[in-house]
Amino acid sequence: MADSRKRIASGMRPTGPLHLGHYFGVLANWVALQETHDCFFFVADWHALTSEYADPKRIKQFVPQLVKDWIASGLAPEKCVIFQQSQIKAHAELHLLLSMVTPLGWLERNPTYKELKQELIQKDLNTYGFLGYPVLMATDILIYLSEAVPVGQDQLPHMELTREIARRFNYINGEFFPEPKALLTSEPKLPGLDGRKMSKSYGNSIYLSDSMDDIRPKVMSMLTLESRKRKSDPGDPDACNLYPYHKLMSSVEKQQEIREGCTKATWGCVDCKKALLESLDAFLSPMMERRKELDANPDLVQDILASGNAKALEAAEKTLAGVRELMNFNF
Ligand code: TRP
Repeated sequence: MADSRKRIASGMRPTGPLHLGHYFGVLANWVALQETHDCFFFVADWHALTSEYADPKRIKQFVPQLVKDWIASGLAPEKCVIFQQSQIKAHAELHLLLSMVTPLGWLERNPTYKELKQELIQKDLNTYGFLGYPVLMATDILIYLSEAVPVGQDQLPHMELTREIARRFNYINGEFFPEPKALLTSEPKLPGLDGRKMSKSYGNSIYLSDSMDDIRPKVMSMLTLESRKRKSDPGDPDACNLYPYHKLMSSVEKQQEIREGCTKATWGCVDCKKALLESLDAFLSPMMERRKELDANPDLVQDILASGNAKALEAAEKTLAGVRELMNFNF
């Protein structure tokens, strides 16, 4: 791996299967970045614990599942480092050190987790660990001396906090950490099957691990424009919930055909859905192929994680040695 390339780090919590919203929101960006950057991608299992602490046993099954979704999507272990956060204990040490310089007010004001707290209203998230979520996230990023972080829009407040923590650490101890920038995916958001945000809890998702048999009934029952009751009513692709899918997965020619058919009322919504199924099939079939290889080779995911963990460990320990020295804590 060429070390002159810019370093980036990013993670996802292992809390369930990934869907197309995750793919177009963040993962497609990761897949592209592994070609141009020195990438560290990790399963944020300690972060999952901040909300799942009451039932920690659940997390284990999701770790290999997440890695499978990544590899199926095109992440390649020879192009990027794929690892598991909890296996790099140095994250815990740096988290502790950064927590010492992080003012409580910064964490209490952070807007992102108001949203997650809302989503997880049935869980008691009045914990020290949950409040410290962004400090652990800053750790994940800074420990690899990352210059950039591919994340979704919802993570921007955390990125701001990461920069503030880096700045404060540097101010106190001397220049050490770069201030990492967020790399947002430029793609528009993909709505769920019902037009709301695609989310596991809404039951409106197409999963990367779905088969075409799972997908067919989902697509055929997608909500389209309410104003289009009959085929003879002209539609409006820009207002319809289906068209964003075509924009992302159908060819430009097909998109034009659909736009014309819809606005001139020569295509019905069923035609449009059938066309989408074809596009989805073509789009997902390479992923399905890669997943088949993983399923046929049960040790592969563990091997990928073991070799990624070793690389991450080396990089993280190197940073920590520097931090300890800087703080005169190298006993
Ligand atoms: N907070 C991120 C999310 O919920 C996951 C995450 C943990 C992360 N640590 C990170 C993302 C470091 C980027 C960098 O999606």
